[in-house]
Amino acid sequence: MKNNNVDFSRLPAHIAITMDGNGRWAKRRFLARQAGHAAGAQNLRKISEQMNTDGFKILTVYAFSTENWKRSDDEVAYLMNLMRDYINQYIEDSKKNNIRINVIGDKSRLDTDLRESIEYLKRLTLNNNGMTLNLAINYGGRDEITRAAKHAATLAATGAINPESIDEKLISSYLDTAEFPDPDLHIRTGGDIRISNFMLWQFAYSELFYIKKFWPDFSYNDLLEIVADFQKRDRRFGS
Ligand code: FPP
Repeated sequence: MKNNNVDFSRLPAHIAITMDGNGRWAKRRFLARQAGHAAGAQNLRKISEQMNTDGFKILTVYAFSTENWKRSDDEVAYLMNLMRDYINQYIEDSKKNNIRINVIGDKSRLDTDLRESIEYLKRLTLNNNGMTLNLAINYGGRDEITRAAKHAATLAATGAINPESIDEKLISSYLDTAEFPDPDLHIRTGGDIRISNFMLWQFAYSELFYIKKFWPDFSYNDLLEIVADFQKRDRRFGS
């Protein structure tokens, strides 16, 4: 579906989305929170495929934060299984779709089977030339910056790098997103106006779009309307 307000010849290179509001979407329908997450996962699949078809290049979504472990055991287990199913489905479908899947976040806390599936899917889709879908799983912006700082400190302590050489470019190269440009825009559904520890470093100059709709109700056309609005903004990067 094309949107006449969007100039498809100059799409933003990288979009980040916080998929919030699954729980409230379910509550409004007298369903369990889990049903909201399931609907959210389906919506992600639909929207990412439409974006890929239309030529978007990088989408990063906040699937599970370092703080989400504080939710009930049942909800955490459900979300983990949803991600497992999502990844396994992509493994099955990888031949008929050209999306590259990548995962950012600290994978060390994930179950071994999930970690292995992630690594397998990453390798399987590495040469896909469509959109890259970055799933942020056990991801926290502060955690990512802390891991990068630790990495730099370790290299400095062993003499592999000179502390004087540590600059923004070097720290960026130690982040999980090292190979990607910073997001041009951050979209958050669900009505809350906050970053919630998502890409703290990378959002330095991102345009922010906070919208009321719950994630399962967010449509591809909603995304295109935001992109059209983004294309009208004057980005000065502090200059
Ligand atoms: C926030 O809604 C959403 C999450 C914590 C999880 C996001 C996960 C998905 C959309 C599906 C799983 C993703 C993959 C990759 C399979 P909330 O629970 O905080 O909603 P609420 O604010 O209404 O309670």
